Amino acid sequence: MTSAEPCTLVIFGAGGNLARRKLLPALFQLEAAGRLPERMAILAVDLEPHSDSEWHSVVSDLLRQSHPEAFDPDVFSRFRPRLHYHPIGPGDASSYGQLRSALEDGARFPPNMVFYMAVRPRDYLHVVEGLGNAGLLREDGGWRRVVIEKPFGYDLLSAQTLQSGLAKHLREQQLFRIDHYLGKGTVQNVMVFRFANLLMEPLWNHHYIDHVQITHSETRGIEGRAEYYEGAGALRDMIQSHLLQLLAIVAMEAPVSMAAEHLRDEKVKVLKSIRPIPQNAVHAHAFRGQYESGLENDQAVCGYLEEPGVAPDSVTETYAALKLFIDNWRWAGVPFYLRTGKRMANNSSAISIRFKNPPQDLLRASRQGPAHANWIMLGIQPDECLKVEMQVKAPGLELKTRTLSLDATYRKDDEADYDAYEELLLDVMNGDHSLFLRIDEVEAAWRVVDPIIKVWSMERDFINGYPAGSWGPRGTYRLFDRDDQFWRHSLDIEGADLRAF
Ligand SMILES: NC(=O)c1ccc[n+]([C@@H]2O[C@H](COP(=O)([O-])OP(=O)(O)OC[C@H]3O[C@@H](n4cnc5c(N)ncnc54)[C@H](OP(=O)(O)O)[C@@H]3O)[C@@H](O)[C@H]2O)c1
Repeated sequence: MTSAEPCTLVIFGAGGNLARRKLLPALFQLEAAGRLPERMAILAVDLEPHSDSEWHSVVSDLLRQSHPEAFDPDVFSRFRPRLHYHPIGPGDASSYGQLRSALEDGARFPPNMVFYMAVRPRDYLHVVEGLGNAGLLREDGGWRRVVIEKPFGYDLLSAQTLQSGLAKHLREQQLFRIDHYLGKGTVQNVMVFRFANLLMEPLWNHHYIDHVQITHSETRGIEGRAEYYEGAGALRDMIQSHLLQLLAIVAMEAPVSMAAEHLRDEKVKVLKSIRPIPQNAVHAHAFRGQYESGLENDQAVCGYLEEPGVAPDSVTETYAALKLFIDNWRWAGVPFYLRTGKRMANNSSAISIRFKNPPQDLLRASRQGPAHANWIMLGIQPDECLKVEMQVKAPGLELKTRTLSLDATYRKDDEADYDAYEELLLDVMNGDHSLFLRIDEVEAAWRVVDPIIKVWSMERDFINGYPAGSWGPRGTYRLFDRDDQFWRHSLDIEGADLRAF
Protein backbone atom coordinates (compact mmCIF):
# COMPACT_ATOMS: atom_id res chain seq x y z
CA MET A 1 0.00 0.00 0.00
CA THR A 2 1.65 3.29 -1.04
CA SER A 3 0.15 6.74 -1.22
CA ALA A 4 2.97 9.28 -1.51
CA GLU A 5 3.79 10.80 -4.90
CA PRO A 6 7.04 9.92 -6.68
CA CYS A 7 9.86 11.83 -5.02
CA THR A 8 13.56 12.08 -4.29
CA LEU A 9 14.75 12.06 -0.68
CA VAL A 10 18.11 13.80 -0.39
CA ILE A 11 19.81 13.05 2.95
CA PHE A 12 22.53 15.54 3.89
CA GLY A 13 24.86 13.90 6.41
CA ALA A 14 23.97 10.38 5.19
CA GLY A 15 27.21 8.99 6.64
CA GLY A 16 26.43 10.29 10.16
CA ASN A 17 24.99 8.69 13.25
CA LEU A 18 21.33 9.64 12.72
CA ALA A 19 21.20 8.51 9.10
CA ARG A 20 22.89 5.20 9.86
CA ARG A 21 21.01 4.39 13.05
CA LYS A 22 17.58 5.73 12.24
CA LEU A 23 16.88 7.05 8.75
CA LEU A 24 18.26 4.27 6.55
CA PRO A 25 16.81 1.47 8.74
CA ALA A 26 13.43 3.27 8.78
CA LEU A 27 13.44 3.58 4.98
CA PHE A 28 14.35 -0.09 4.69
CA GLN A 29 11.43 -1.03 6.96
CA LEU A 30 9.11 1.11 4.83
CA GLU A 31 10.39 -0.74 1.77
CA ALA A 32 9.70 -4.07 3.47
CA ALA A 33 6.17 -2.91 4.31
CA GLY A 34 5.59 -1.76 0.70
CA ARG A 35 5.04 1.83 1.86
CA LEU A 36 7.60 3.65 -0.31
CA PRO A 37 6.32 5.23 -3.54
CA GLU A 38 7.16 3.09 -6.52
CA ARG A 39 9.21 5.87 -8.07
CA MET A 40 11.31 7.09 -5.23
CA ALA A 41 15.05 7.70 -5.11
CA ILE A 42 17.20 8.16 -2.00
CA LEU A 43 20.24 10.31 -2.64
CA ALA A 44 22.84 10.23 0.12
CA VAL A 45 25.00 13.36 0.37
CA ASP A 46 28.06 13.51 2.60
CA LEU A 47 31.68 14.63 2.55
CA GLU A 48 33.25 11.15 2.08
CA PRO A 49 33.88 10.08 -1.51
CA HIS A 50 31.85 6.97 -2.47
CA SER A 51 30.56 5.56 -5.73
CA ASP A 52 26.95 4.31 -5.88
CA SER A 53 28.11 0.69 -5.66
CA GLU A 54 30.35 1.40 -2.64
CA TRP A 55 27.41 3.10 -0.98
CA HIS A 56 25.21 0.04 -1.64
CA SER A 57 27.73 -2.07 0.28
CA VAL A 58 27.89 0.46 3.13
CA VAL A 59 24.09 0.46 3.47
CA SER A 60 23.79 -3.30 3.14
CA ASP A 61 26.44 -3.80 5.85
CA LEU A 62 24.89 -1.36 8.26
CA LEU A 63 21.40 -2.83 7.84
CA ARG A 64 22.72 -6.34 8.36
CA GLN A 65 24.60 -5.29 11.49
CA SER A 66 22.00 -3.01 13.05
CA HIS A 67 18.90 -5.13 12.42
CA PRO A 68 20.12 -8.66 11.59
CA GLU A 69 16.68 -10.14 12.34
CA ALA A 70 14.92 -7.72 9.98
CA PHE A 71 17.36 -7.97 7.07
CA ASP A 72 15.73 -9.66 4.12
CA PRO A 73 17.94 -9.94 0.97
CA ASP A 74 14.83 -9.85 -1.29
CA VAL A 75 13.74 -6.57 0.25
CA PHE A 76 17.27 -5.22 -0.14
CA SER A 77 17.28 -6.12 -3.84
CA ARG A 78 14.17 -3.88 -4.21
CA PHE A 79 15.75 -1.19 -2.00
CA ARG A 80 19.18 -1.08 -3.67
CA PRO A 81 18.14 0.55 -7.00
CA ARG A 82 16.74 3.50 -5.04
CA LEU A 83 20.10 4.23 -3.38
CA HIS A 84 22.46 6.79 -4.88
CA TYR A 85 25.42 8.70 -3.48
CA HIS A 86 26.71 12.21 -4.15
CA PRO A 87 29.89 13.47 -2.40
CA ILE A 88 29.85 17.18 -1.63
CA GLY A 89 32.67 19.59 -0.77
CA PRO A 90 32.13 21.43 2.54
CA GLY A 91 31.30 25.12 2.15
CA ASP A 92 31.96 24.98 -1.55
CA ALA A 93 29.28 26.95 -3.49
CA SER A 94 30.06 25.19 -6.78
CA SER A 95 29.24 21.82 -5.19
CA TYR A 96 25.54 22.80 -4.94
CA GLY A 97 25.61 23.56 -8.71
CA GLN A 98 27.01 20.06 -9.25
CA LEU A 99 24.32 18.62 -7.02
CA ARG A 100 21.65 20.46 -9.03
CA SER A 101 23.08 19.04 -12.28
CA ALA A 102 22.96 15.54 -10.78
CA LEU A 103 19.35 16.01 -9.64
CA GLU A 104 18.32 17.22 -13.09
CA ASP A 105 18.58 13.62 -14.29
CA GLY A 106 14.81 13.11 -14.21
CA ALA A 107 15.09 9.42 -15.13
CA ARG A 108 16.82 8.76 -11.80
CA PHE A 109 15.48 11.55 -9.61
CA PRO A 110 11.77 12.50 -9.55
CA PRO A 111 11.42 16.32 -9.33
CA ASN A 112 9.46 16.35 -6.04
CA MET A 113 12.22 16.58 -3.46
CA VAL A 114 12.71 16.27 0.30
CA PHE A 115 16.03 17.60 1.64
CA TYR A 116 16.72 16.05 5.04
CA MET A 117 19.19 17.95 7.28
CA ALA A 118 20.94 15.09 9.10
CA VAL A 119 23.94 17.38 9.54
CA ARG A 120 25.14 19.10 12.70
CA PRO A 121 22.91 21.96 13.83
CA ARG A 122 25.54 24.57 12.92
CA ASP A 123 25.37 23.34 9.30
CA TYR A 124 21.55 23.54 8.79
CA LEU A 125 21.63 27.08 7.48
CA HIS A 126 24.75 26.67 5.32
CA VAL A 127 23.18 23.73 3.53
CA VAL A 128 19.81 25.45 3.05
CA GLU A 129 21.56 28.57 1.74
CA GLY A 130 23.57 26.42 -0.66
CA LEU A 131 20.40 24.73 -1.90
CA GLY A 132 18.52 28.03 -2.13
CA ASN A 133 21.28 29.84 -4.01
CA ALA A 134 21.50 26.94 -6.47
CA GLY A 135 17.75 27.26 -7.15
CA LEU A 136 17.04 23.82 -5.69
CA LEU A 137 14.31 25.08 -3.32
CA ARG A 138 12.19 26.72 -6.07
CA GLU A 139 9.01 24.78 -6.63
CA ASP A 140 8.71 25.29 -10.38
CA GLY A 141 9.03 21.66 -11.49
CA GLY A 142 7.75 19.87 -8.36
CA TRP A 143 7.44 20.42 -4.62
CA ARG A 144 10.50 21.02 -2.41
CA ARG A 145 10.48 20.26 1.32
CA VAL A 146 13.18 20.59 3.96
CA VAL A 147 13.35 18.57 7.17
CA ILE A 148 15.20 20.26 10.04
CA GLU A 149 16.34 18.00 12.86
CA LYS A 150 16.33 19.02 16.48
CA PRO A 151 17.65 21.11 18.10
CA PHE A 152 16.11 24.15 16.42
CA GLY A 153 18.41 26.77 17.96
CA TYR A 154 19.98 26.68 21.42
CA ASP A 155 17.81 29.46 22.88
CA LEU A 156 15.03 31.78 21.71
CA LEU A 157 17.30 34.26 19.98
CA SER A 158 19.30 31.66 18.07
CA ALA A 159 16.07 29.89 17.04
CA GLN A 160 14.73 33.19 15.68
CA THR A 161 18.01 33.87 13.88
CA LEU A 162 17.95 30.39 12.31
CA GLN A 163 14.34 30.89 11.30
CA SER A 164 14.99 34.24 9.63
CA GLY A 165 17.85 32.65 7.66
CA LEU A 166 15.64 29.74 6.55
CA ALA A 167 12.75 32.06 5.70
CA LYS A 168 14.90 33.75 3.02
CA HIS A 169 14.73 30.52 1.02
CA LEU A 170 11.66 28.63 2.26
CA ARG A 171 7.99 29.16 3.00
CA GLU A 172 6.66 27.77 6.30
CA GLN A 173 4.74 25.11 4.35
CA GLN A 174 8.03 23.78 2.96
CA LEU A 175 9.56 23.33 6.42
CA PHE A 176 9.24 20.19 8.55
CA ARG A 177 10.80 20.68 12.01
CA ILE A 178 11.11 17.25 13.49
CA ASP A 179 10.50 16.14 17.07
CA HIS A 180 10.68 12.37 16.71
CA TYR A 181 8.79 11.88 19.99
CA LEU A 182 5.64 12.92 18.15
CA GLY A 183 6.08 10.00 15.76
CA LYS A 184 5.73 7.50 18.60
CA GLY A 185 2.45 5.61 18.54
CA THR A 186 1.91 5.97 22.27
CA VAL A 187 2.21 9.76 22.09
CA GLN A 188 -0.50 9.80 19.45
CA ASN A 189 -2.46 7.40 21.64
CA VAL A 190 -2.65 10.16 24.26
CA MET A 191 -4.72 12.16 21.78
CA VAL A 192 -6.91 9.17 21.00
CA PHE A 193 -7.37 8.47 24.70
CA ARG A 194 -8.45 12.04 25.30
CA PHE A 195 -10.51 12.82 22.24
CA ALA A 196 -12.11 9.47 21.40
CA ASN A 197 -13.29 8.72 24.96
CA LEU A 198 -15.95 11.07 26.27
CA LEU A 199 -15.66 9.70 29.79
CA MET A 200 -12.25 11.31 30.27
CA GLU A 201 -13.25 14.84 29.30
CA PRO A 202 -15.29 15.83 32.40
CA LEU A 203 -12.38 14.74 34.62
CA TRP A 204 -9.59 16.34 32.60
CA ASN A 205 -9.21 19.62 34.49
CA HIS A 206 -8.22 21.30 37.76
CA HIS A 207 -11.39 20.14 39.52
CA TYR A 208 -10.22 16.51 39.50
CA ILE A 209 -6.53 16.39 38.61
CA ASP A 210 -4.06 17.03 41.42
CA HIS A 211 -0.93 17.19 39.29
CA VAL A 212 0.74 15.77 36.18
CA GLN A 213 4.23 14.26 35.96
CA ILE A 214 6.13 13.80 32.72
CA THR A 215 9.34 11.80 32.97
CA HIS A 216 12.03 10.75 30.57
CA SER A 217 14.82 8.81 32.27
CA GLU A 218 17.74 6.99 30.65
CA THR A 219 20.26 4.59 32.13
CA ARG A 220 22.75 5.57 29.41
CA GLY A 221 25.35 8.26 29.89
CA ILE A 222 26.34 10.61 27.09
CA GLU A 223 27.96 7.81 25.06
CA GLY A 224 30.88 9.77 23.70
CA ARG A 225 28.74 12.70 22.52
CA ALA A 226 30.41 15.28 24.81
CA GLU A 227 30.83 17.77 21.96
CA TYR A 228 27.05 17.94 21.52
CA TYR A 229 26.01 17.44 25.14
CA GLU A 230 28.33 20.04 26.68
CA GLY A 231 26.60 22.69 24.59
CA ALA A 232 23.11 21.32 25.21
CA GLY A 233 22.40 19.76 28.62
CA ALA A 234 19.23 18.00 29.74
CA LEU A 235 17.02 21.08 29.71
CA ARG A 236 17.64 21.88 26.06
CA ASP A 237 18.08 18.29 24.92
CA MET A 238 14.86 16.85 26.36
CA ILE A 239 12.65 19.36 28.14
CA GLN A 240 12.50 22.23 25.64
CA SER A 241 11.54 19.84 22.89
CA HIS A 242 10.10 16.44 23.77
CA LEU A 243 8.70 16.95 27.27
CA LEU A 244 7.03 20.27 26.49
CA GLN A 245 5.44 18.61 23.46
CA LEU A 246 4.05 15.87 25.71
CA LEU A 247 2.77 18.53 28.11
CA ALA A 248 1.05 20.32 25.23
CA ILE A 249 -0.67 17.11 24.10
CA VAL A 250 -1.87 16.28 27.60
CA ALA A 251 -3.11 19.80 28.27
CA MET A 252 -4.44 21.11 24.94
CA GLU A 253 -8.10 21.76 24.19
CA ALA A 254 -9.83 19.55 21.62
CA PRO A 255 -8.78 20.87 18.20
CA VAL A 256 -11.33 21.92 15.56
CA SER A 257 -10.19 18.87 13.58
CA MET A 258 -7.14 16.61 13.50
CA ALA A 259 -5.76 18.68 10.59
CA ALA A 260 -2.20 19.89 11.09
CA GLU A 261 -2.97 23.59 11.58
CA HIS A 262 -5.81 22.93 14.01
CA LEU A 263 -3.66 20.61 16.11
CA ARG A 264 -0.73 22.98 16.12
CA ASP A 265 -2.98 25.97 16.97
CA GLU A 266 -4.10 24.20 20.14
CA LYS A 267 -0.59 23.13 21.15
CA VAL A 268 0.68 26.70 20.72
CA LYS A 269 -2.15 28.01 22.91
CA VAL A 270 -1.07 25.72 25.75
CA LEU A 271 2.61 26.59 25.42
CA LYS A 272 1.77 30.28 25.42
CA SER A 273 -0.36 29.80 28.57
CA ILE A 274 2.55 28.42 30.60
CA ARG A 275 3.23 30.91 33.36
CA PRO A 276 6.59 32.60 32.67
CA ILE A 277 9.26 31.86 35.28
CA PRO A 278 10.95 35.11 36.32
CA GLN A 279 14.69 34.80 36.83
CA ASN A 280 14.32 35.33 40.59
CA ALA A 281 11.93 32.35 40.80
CA VAL A 282 14.08 29.89 38.84
CA HIS A 283 15.24 28.07 41.98
CA ALA A 284 11.68 27.52 43.14
CA HIS A 285 10.70 26.05 39.75
CA ALA A 286 13.78 24.27 38.42
CA PHE A 287 16.39 21.83 39.70
CA ARG A 288 19.50 20.58 37.94
CA GLY A 289 22.00 17.83 38.66
CA GLN A 290 24.96 15.99 37.18
CA TYR A 291 25.71 12.28 37.41
CA GLU A 292 28.64 11.04 39.45
CA SER A 293 30.27 7.63 39.31
CA GLY A 294 28.08 4.74 40.39
CA LEU A 295 26.63 1.43 39.30
CA GLU A 296 24.57 0.86 36.18
CA ASN A 297 23.28 -2.70 35.78
CA ASP A 298 25.87 -3.76 38.38
CA GLN A 299 28.70 -2.31 36.27
CA ALA A 300 30.82 0.55 37.62
CA VAL A 301 30.43 3.64 35.43
CA CYS A 302 32.25 6.95 35.54
CA GLY A 303 30.79 10.33 36.45
CA TYR A 304 29.96 13.00 33.86
CA LEU A 305 33.14 14.97 34.61
CA GLU A 306 35.25 11.88 33.83
CA GLU A 307 33.60 11.36 30.42
CA PRO A 308 36.00 11.98 27.49
CA GLY A 309 35.67 15.51 26.12
CA VAL A 310 33.87 16.98 29.17
CA ALA A 311 35.47 20.05 30.76
CA PRO A 312 36.73 19.25 34.31
CA ASP A 313 34.70 22.16 35.74
CA SER A 314 31.60 21.63 33.59
CA VAL A 315 28.24 22.47 35.17
CA THR A 316 26.25 21.08 32.25
CA GLU A 317 23.19 19.41 33.72
CA THR A 318 22.52 15.74 32.99
CA TYR A 319 19.35 15.94 35.10
CA ALA A 320 16.70 18.65 35.02
CA ALA A 321 13.32 18.93 36.70
CA LEU A 322 10.77 21.72 36.37
CA LYS A 323 7.49 22.75 37.91
CA LEU A 324 5.21 24.58 35.50
CA PHE A 325 1.73 26.04 35.74
CA ILE A 326 -0.64 26.56 32.83
CA ASP A 327 -2.63 29.71 33.40
CA ASN A 328 -5.92 28.90 31.72
CA TRP A 329 -9.39 27.85 32.92
CA ARG A 330 -8.80 24.13 32.54
CA TRP A 331 -5.50 23.90 34.41
CA ALA A 332 -5.51 26.76 36.92
CA GLY A 333 -3.39 25.77 39.92
CA VAL A 334 -2.41 22.28 38.66
CA PRO A 335 1.37 21.76 38.76
CA PHE A 336 3.00 19.98 35.84
CA TYR A 337 6.27 18.38 36.96
CA LEU A 338 8.73 17.56 34.18
CA ARG A 339 11.98 15.69 34.75
CA THR A 340 14.64 14.04 32.68
CA GLY A 341 18.02 12.55 33.39
CA LYS A 342 20.84 10.40 32.13
CA ARG A 343 22.39 7.54 34.12
CA MET A 344 19.16 7.12 36.05
CA ALA A 345 17.86 3.96 37.69
CA ASN A 346 15.62 3.00 34.78
CA ASN A 347 14.82 3.68 31.12
CA SER A 348 11.38 5.15 31.05
CA SER A 349 9.25 7.76 29.29
CA ALA A 350 5.90 8.15 30.93
CA ILE A 351 3.10 10.55 31.74
CA SER A 352 1.61 10.03 35.20
CA ILE A 353 -1.59 11.86 36.05
CA ARG A 354 -2.64 11.92 39.67
CA PHE A 355 -6.22 12.66 40.61
CA LYS A 356 -7.38 14.40 43.78
CA ASN A 357 -8.66 12.44 46.75
CA PRO A 358 -12.43 12.12 47.18
CA PRO A 359 -13.89 15.10 49.09
CA GLN A 360 -14.77 12.90 52.09
CA ASP A 361 -12.56 10.06 53.33
CA LEU A 362 -15.34 7.60 54.17
CA LEU A 363 -13.07 4.57 54.24
CA ARG A 364 -10.41 5.95 56.54
CA ALA A 365 -11.28 3.60 59.38
CA SER A 366 -10.90 0.50 57.19
CA ARG A 367 -7.58 1.49 55.69
CA GLN A 368 -4.06 1.44 57.02
CA GLY A 369 -1.92 4.34 55.88
CA PRO A 370 -2.75 7.29 53.66
CA ALA A 371 -5.49 7.33 51.01
CA HIS A 372 -4.51 6.19 47.52
CA ALA A 373 -5.49 8.60 44.80
CA ASN A 374 -6.42 7.44 41.33
CA TRP A 375 -3.62 7.59 38.79
CA ILE A 376 -3.62 7.36 35.01
CA MET A 377 -0.29 6.11 33.74
CA LEU A 378 0.64 6.50 30.09
CA GLY A 379 3.83 4.62 29.27
CA ILE A 380 5.57 5.95 26.14
CA GLN A 381 8.71 3.78 26.08
CA PRO A 382 9.89 1.11 26.58
CA ASP A 383 6.57 0.02 28.16
CA GLU A 384 3.82 1.18 25.81
CA CYS A 385 0.82 1.11 28.09
CA LEU A 386 -2.18 2.87 29.48
CA LYS A 387 -3.10 2.01 33.03
CA VAL A 388 -5.77 3.37 35.33
CA GLU A 389 -5.36 2.77 39.07
CA MET A 390 -8.50 2.47 41.16
CA GLN A 391 -9.43 1.40 44.66
CA VAL A 392 -11.42 -1.80 45.09
CA LYS A 393 -12.50 -3.86 48.06
CA ALA A 394 -10.01 -6.52 49.05
CA PRO A 395 -11.69 -9.97 49.27
CA GLY A 396 -12.47 -11.00 52.82
CA LEU A 397 -14.85 -10.32 55.66
CA GLU A 398 -13.47 -6.87 56.45
CA LEU A 399 -14.07 -3.74 54.42
CA LYS A 400 -10.51 -3.20 53.34
CA THR A 401 -9.37 -1.51 50.14
CA ARG A 402 -6.58 -2.24 47.73
CA THR A 403 -5.29 -0.69 44.53
CA LEU A 404 -6.08 -2.31 41.21
CA SER A 405 -4.48 -1.33 37.91
CA LEU A 406 -6.72 -1.55 34.84
CA ASP A 407 -4.45 -2.19 31.89
CA ALA A 408 -5.59 -0.78 28.55
CA THR A 409 -2.31 -1.35 26.74
CA TYR A 410 -2.98 -0.51 23.14
CA ARG A 411 -0.58 -2.77 21.29
CA LYS A 412 -0.87 -6.53 21.47
CA ASP A 413 2.28 -8.64 21.45
CA ASP A 414 1.66 -9.91 17.92
CA GLU A 415 0.99 -6.45 16.47
CA ALA A 416 3.83 -4.88 14.55
CA ASP A 417 5.75 -2.06 16.12
CA TYR A 418 7.33 0.67 14.03
CA ASP A 419 9.94 3.30 14.62
CA ALA A 420 8.89 6.96 14.92
CA TYR A 421 11.08 7.85 11.93
CA GLU A 422 9.10 5.51 9.67
CA GLU A 423 5.92 7.44 10.30
CA LEU A 424 7.59 10.84 10.12
CA LEU A 425 9.38 10.13 6.84
CA LEU A 426 6.09 9.03 5.28
CA ASP A 427 4.36 12.15 6.61
CA VAL A 428 6.97 14.41 4.99
CA MET A 429 6.52 12.62 1.66
CA ASN A 430 2.75 13.04 2.02
CA GLY A 431 3.10 16.71 3.01
CA ASP A 432 1.39 16.16 6.37
CA HIS A 433 2.61 18.66 9.00
CA SER A 434 0.52 17.33 11.93
CA LEU A 435 3.47 15.79 13.77
CA PHE A 436 5.97 18.54 12.97
CA LEU A 437 6.59 21.76 14.88
CA ARG A 438 5.45 25.13 13.62
CA ILE A 439 7.80 28.04 14.29
CA ASP A 440 5.49 29.66 16.86
CA GLU A 441 5.48 26.36 18.82
CA VAL A 442 9.27 26.25 18.84
CA GLU A 443 9.49 29.89 19.96
CA ALA A 444 6.91 29.40 22.71
CA ALA A 445 8.84 26.39 24.04
CA TRP A 446 12.09 28.38 24.09
CA ARG A 447 10.32 31.20 25.95
CA VAL A 448 9.46 28.72 28.73
CA VAL A 449 13.02 27.53 29.31
CA ASP A 450 15.02 30.66 28.39
CA PRO A 451 15.00 32.24 31.89
CA ILE A 452 16.26 28.97 33.38
CA ILE A 453 19.00 28.66 30.77
CA LYS A 454 20.11 32.22 31.59
CA VAL A 455 20.26 31.67 35.37
CA TRP A 456 21.98 28.29 35.10
CA SER A 457 24.54 29.63 32.65
CA MET A 458 25.48 32.36 35.14
CA GLU A 459 25.70 30.05 38.17
CA ARG A 460 28.86 28.17 37.33
CA ASP A 461 30.30 27.30 40.74
CA PHE A 462 27.96 24.54 41.95
CA ILE A 463 25.75 21.76 40.63
CA ASN A 464 24.07 18.98 42.65
CA GLY A 465 25.52 15.53 42.02
CA TYR A 466 23.69 12.20 41.96
CA PRO A 467 25.12 8.69 41.83
CA ALA A 468 24.82 6.95 38.48
CA GLY A 469 22.00 4.42 38.69
CA SER A 470 19.88 6.49 41.11
CA TRP A 471 16.70 8.52 40.56
CA GLY A 472 18.49 11.85 40.51
CA PRO A 473 19.80 14.39 43.00
CA ARG A 474 18.54 14.76 46.55
CA GLY A 475 16.43 17.77 47.12
CA THR A 476 14.22 17.70 44.03
CA TYR A 477 11.29 17.19 46.41
CA ARG A 478 11.39 20.87 47.14
CA LEU A 479 9.71 21.40 43.76
CA PHE A 480 6.55 19.70 45.01
CA ASP A 481 3.72 21.86 46.24
CA ARG A 482 2.69 19.50 49.06
CA ASP A 483 4.11 16.72 51.22
CA ASP A 484 1.86 14.06 49.71
CA GLN A 485 3.24 14.61 46.22
CA PHE A 486 6.16 12.40 45.17
CA TRP A 487 7.90 11.28 42.00
CA ARG A 488 6.23 8.31 40.45
CA HIS A 489 9.09 6.07 39.29
CA SER A 490 7.16 3.03 38.18
CA LEU A 491 4.14 2.26 36.07
CA ASP A 492 3.33 -0.66 38.36
CA ILE A 493 1.44 -0.45 41.61
CA GLU A 494 4.23 -2.17 43.54
CA GLY A 495 6.60 0.66 42.70
CA ALA A 496 4.01 3.39 43.06
CA ASP A 497 4.90 4.64 46.50
CA LEU A 498 8.65 4.37 46.25
CA ARG A 499 10.27 7.64 46.99
CA ALA A 500 13.75 8.42 45.71
CA PHE A 501 15.05 9.42 49.08
N1 LIG B 1 22.19 10.96 16.35
C1 LIG B 1 21.00 10.99 16.88
O1 LIG B 1 20.51 10.03 17.48
C2 LIG B 1 20.15 12.23 16.76
C3 LIG B 1 18.89 12.27 17.44
C4 LIG B 1 18.09 13.41 17.29
C5 LIG B 1 18.54 14.45 16.50
N2 LIG B 1 19.77 14.40 15.87
C6 LIG B 1 20.18 15.52 15.06
O2 LIG B 1 20.48 15.03 13.75
C7 LIG B 1 21.55 15.77 13.18
C8 LIG B 1 22.66 14.80 12.77
O3 LIG B 1 23.15 14.18 13.95
P1 LIG B 1 24.25 13.02 13.90
O4 LIG B 1 24.37 12.51 15.27
O5 LIG B 1 23.96 12.09 12.78
O6 LIG B 1 25.56 13.88 13.53
P2 LIG B 1 26.90 13.32 12.88
O7 LIG B 1 27.12 11.89 13.25
O8 LIG B 1 27.97 14.33 13.21
O9 LIG B 1 26.62 13.34 11.31
C9 LIG B 1 26.67 14.48 10.50
C10 LIG B 1 27.20 14.06 9.16
O10 LIG B 1 27.10 15.18 8.26
C11 LIG B 1 28.32 15.25 7.53
N3 LIG B 1 28.43 16.61 6.98
C12 LIG B 1 29.02 17.70 7.53
N4 LIG B 1 28.84 18.78 6.70
C13 LIG B 1 28.11 18.35 5.64
C14 LIG B 1 27.60 18.95 4.48
N5 LIG B 1 27.81 20.24 4.21
N6 LIG B 1 26.88 18.22 3.61
C15 LIG B 1 26.66 16.91 3.84
N7 LIG B 1 27.13 16.26 4.93
C16 LIG B 1 27.84 16.96 5.82
C17 LIG B 1 29.36 14.89 8.55
O11 LIG B 1 30.60 14.59 7.96
P3 LIG B 1 31.96 14.81 8.87
O12 LIG B 1 31.78 13.99 10.10
O13 LIG B 1 33.04 14.33 7.98
O14 LIG B 1 32.02 16.28 9.18
C18 LIG B 1 28.69 13.67 9.20
O15 LIG B 1 28.89 12.51 8.43
C19 LIG B 1 22.00 16.76 14.24
O16 LIG B 1 21.38 17.97 13.99
C20 LIG B 1 21.47 16.18 15.54
O17 LIG B 1 21.20 17.18 16.48
C21 LIG B 1 20.57 13.30 15.99
